[in-house]
Amino acid sequence: VLSSPSKKFRVTLPDSLPPGQAFVPPGRSVAVFKDDGGVYAISTVCTHLGCIVKNTNEGFECPCHGSRFAADGSVTKGPAPTALPWRKVTGSGSDFVVDEDVTVPAGTKVNA
Ligand code: FES
Repeated sequence: VLSSPSKKFRVTLPDSLPPGQAFVPPGRSVAVFKDDGGVYAISTVCTHLGCIVKNTNEGFECPCHGSRFAADGSVTKGPAPTALPWRKVTGSGSDFVVDEDVTVPAGTKVNA
């Protein structure tokens, strides 16, 4: 019996990660950010039909049907019906654990 792969994973943030720039761990559908407020993770799975959104200077853009999201994940252009969810992050320094199965309120950051 195979168990489903854990959606919880460790991530080491590059020291040089500029504020507001996404770090997408390979094989994961979440973008991790670091700014003055701390570290946070936003799902990159489009809330329309599940394509993977791309991080842009303004936020996120879905290649499938053109939905756009602000940097906090909120929808700025449909057809996406809801914001990109924020995921739980724990940890400190440059070592963090992201849990893609746990959604937290938008704006939740952990101190780096
Ligand atoms: Fe993203 Fe349709 S799946 S806009």
